[in-house]
Amino acid sequence: MAAPAADDGRFEAALRQCAREVERMLDLLLPRPEGPEAQLAEAMRYAALGGGKRFRPFLVCQSAAIFDVNIESALRAAAAAECVHIYSLIHDDLPCMDDDDLRHGAPTVHRKFDEATAVLTGDALLTLAFDILGDTDTHERARVRIELVRRLAAAAGARGMVGGQMIDLASEGKALDMNGVTRLHQLKTGALISFCCEAGAVLGRASPEGLQALHAYAHDLGLAYQIADDLLDVEGDAATLGKTAGKDVAAGKATFVSILGVDRARAQARMLADQAVQHLDLFDERADLLRLAPHFVITRRN
Ligand code: IPE
Ligand code: IPE
Ligand code: MG
Ligand code: MG
Ligand code: MG
Repeated sequence: MAAPAADDGRFEAALRQCAREVERMLDLLLPRPEGPEAQLAEAMRYAALGGGKRFRPFLVCQSAAIFDVNIESALRAAAAAECVHIYSLIHDDLPCMDDDDLRHGAPTVHRKFDEATAVLTGDALLTLAFDILGDTDTHERARVRIELVRRLAAAAGARGMVGGQMIDLASEGKALDMNGVTRLHQLKTGALISFCCEAGAVLGRASPEGLQALHAYAHDLGLAYQIADDLLDVEGDAATLGKTAGKDVAAGKATFVSILGVDRARAQARMLADQAVQHLDLFDERADLLRLAPHFVITRRN
C-alpha cells in the first residue's frame, strides 16, 4: 500500500494534536518546583515543556492506534520516550559534548541554569521515564510493563543511544565509512525511534509479525530521521531550526553528508523513506498516519 496523499495538512494537524496531548501528560507527570531542590523541577519543566516536534510521542501514539490501545496508556509511554529524548538533548548540548547554546529557540539548560543543573536534569528525566513505564496506570499487566522497561533501557543504553553518542564523539575528526556512520545513526537516533514504533505493539500485545513490521519500518525511518537532521545542520538556519546550524562540519562530525555530500545524502534519505512505508503493508488504514511520517521526516524544516 502506498502512502496516502501527503499534501492535505492531515499529518501536521495530527502531529500538533499529539504534541498538545503529550504536553498535558508531561505537565501532570513532571515534579512541581518545591523545597530546596526546586531548581531541578524548574529545569525539568523548562526543558520538557519548552517545545520540540514531539515526533517520538507521535510514533508511540500512532503505533498504539493500530492495536486500539487506550489513549492514556499510549500517552504515558509516549511521555516516557519524550523524557529520554529531552534528557539526551540536554546532555548532548553540554560543553563536554556538542557545546550548544540554543535549543528549541531558547538557551540550553546549562546556559539558562548551570552545568551541574543540566546534568542532574538529564538524570532526573531519564529516571522519571522508567518510573512512568513501571506504573500500573501505563498497563495493568506487569509483563507488559517489564517489556516496555527493558526495551527502553536497551534503546537508551550502552548498545543504544548512549553507545551511539560515544561513537559520535569518538569519531570527531575521523572519516567513518558508510557502515560506520549507519551504525552510529542507528544507535544514537534509530534505537529510540524503534522503541517508540514498537511500544504501541507491546502495549497492544501485537503478533510477532506486527512487531517485526514496525521494527523494520522504524529501522528505515530512524536512519532517514538522522540523515535529515544532518542535512538541516548544513542547509538550515538557527531561526528556523531553533538550534545553531553548521555545527557538524565545525566539529568534524561523521555524518551521511560528510561521507556522501548533500545530494546523495538526500537521495539516501528519500530511498529509506519509501522503503519504510512498504513495511506497513500488513496494516489497515489505522496505520495511515505512520505511512505519512517518512515524507514528513525528509521534508521537515526543523
Ligand atoms: C534532534 O531530534 C536530535 C536527533 C536525535 C536528531 P528532534 O529534531 O526530534 O528534536 P525536537 O523535535 O527538537 O525535540
Ligand atoms: C543527537 O544528535 C542525538 C542524540 C541522541 C541527542 P545531534 O547532536 O545531531 O542532535 P542535534 O543536532 O544537536 O539536535
Ligand atoms: Mg550530538
Ligand atoms: Mg548536538
Ligand atoms: Mg544534528
